[in-house]
Amino acid sequence: MSARSFLELVQGSAVAEWMRYSGAAPVVESTHVVAAVMLFGTVLVVDLRLLGVADSGHAFTGISRQTLPLTWLAFAVAVITGWLMFTASAVAYFGNTAFRLKALALCGAGLNMALFHLVTARRVPAWDQGVPMPRAARIAGFVSALLWASVVLLGRWIGFTKGYDFTIPPGVELGFGP
Ligand code: HEM
Repeated sequence: MSARSFLELVQGSAVAEWMRYSGAAPVVESTHVVAAVMLFGTVLVVDLRLLGVADSGHAFTGISRQTLPLTWLAFAVAVITGWLMFTASAVAYFGNTAFRLKALALCGAGLNMALFHLVTARRVPAWDQGVPMPRAARIAGFVSALLWASVVLLGRWIGFTKGYDFTIPPGVELGFGP
């Protein structure tokens, strides 16, 4: 099966039809934004601790243990709502540069997180004894903050590059509905 026919299958699915015609899209997209904010917010708390910018008085393991469940919850909600949005216009989204770059940034953020938890963080106990954060941990924090910020920005940029014309013709007053 070619990528094109797979995307057409996804776009023709009952879920995609539901996303297009049920009126659920604004709720799904808003939930995606809330999940994105919660994910980026909890990740940033840990990244700023790794960078020594914030909270250096609190043990890293404590901060990480409290925030990680929220990060995973937000990630799960973002993936589910993101997939739902994707199904509605799978062919168009897959061809969208901002969407592709966002997918790359998401993979990079996932790899950086895996490398950190599987390699760098094995020396965590020492960090709680006030030993300065090793360079690898600070680099992981910086790369994480940069990549997750890119995911959020690129997510928003998808909306600006979906082919809608956002320019307001001269003399036209915007009227917002109820
Ligand atoms: C897991 C981390 C993710 C984060 C932090 C994230 C973040 C965002 C943000 C902030 C937006 C802009 C929403 C708006 O302005 O209304 C967005 C849009 C979008 N996201 Fe995600 N996203 C994530 C995962 C995904 C996944 C896994 C998919 C698809 C499989 C996805 C598909 C989309 C689509 C299609 C849009 C564009 C909606 C539109 O304007 O048409 N996202 N994302």
